[in-house]
Amino acid sequence: MGGKLGTLFARAGHEVVFSYARSEQKLKRLARNAKRNARAGTPAEAARNADALLLAVHWSRVDDVLRQAGDVSGKTIVSCSLPMNAGDTGLVIAHTSSGAEALARKVRKAHVVSAFGTVPSEVLFDVYAAKRKARRPSLLYCGDDAHAKATAATLIRDVGFDPVDAGPLRIARYLEPFTLLIAQLAYETEGGPELAYRFERFGQRRRR
Ligand SMILES: NC(=O)c1ccc[n+]([C@@H]2O[C@H](COP(=O)([O-])OP(=O)(O)OC[C@H]3O[C@@H](n4cnc5c(N)ncnc54)[C@H](OP(=O)(O)O)[C@@H]3O)[C@@H](O)[C@H]2O)c1
Repeated sequence: MGGKLGTLFARAGHEVVFSYARSEQKLKRLARNAKRNARAGTPAEAARNADALLLAVHWSRVDDVLRQAGDVSGKTIVSCSLPMNAGDTGLVIAHTSSGAEALARKVRKAHVVSAFGTVPSEVLFDVYAAKRKARRPSLLYCGDDAHAKATAATLIRDVGFDPVDAGPLRIARYLEPFTLLIAQLAYETEGGPELAYRFERFGQRRRR
């Protein structure tokens, strides 16, 4: 998720620092392949001057990457990380809380937005390639801070989705299980993982 989204953010004109992998070569390769606007760095370097941080690690690595990132006070953290167990067979937090809310409790001075986690990574480049088409796929996001949500919505649009504001961060309690449905459709049916979704509204009270 991080490699693909970082590449697309760079293509859309953002400055990107790829960080956090066991191989520095991989991060350098990602930066090279993204061509403009990208470099490899440590999580602390990525965090230092960033307007937004994308958290895209396995749930078991969240504490480690946050420790390496250092002070993230005031930062927008866009998280696609799901609170999955070690075997990736189920959510370890659900129903009465969410991974996004648990993350927000770990970084109380940052502004967490849950976004991008509801689609498979395999669809991202196709969505970007279809960006000019009128009917974009939807992408759900939620969070408590208006400025952080506006930043996330810009990134969502830049990748080629139509951002759908689902409300406050606690709505991640619904987004995260929804992602398991998407994973079921992507990986357990014959249709394949190049899958996105679109919400349509009908009737007179439609608003933008
Ligand atoms: N993949 C999807 O389609 C998808 C969709 C929705 C949500 N998500 C969620 O997004 C998050 C990221 O998923 P992903 O599939 O992108 O995972 P991933 O491909 O495994 O990427 C995770 C990153 O963390 C790094 N990493 C792992 N262990 C490390 C360690 N010990 N030290 C340093 N770096 C380490 C990996 O680097 P290495 O090269 O060293 O492995 C990689 O750069 C997860 O929480 C997942 O549940 C994924």
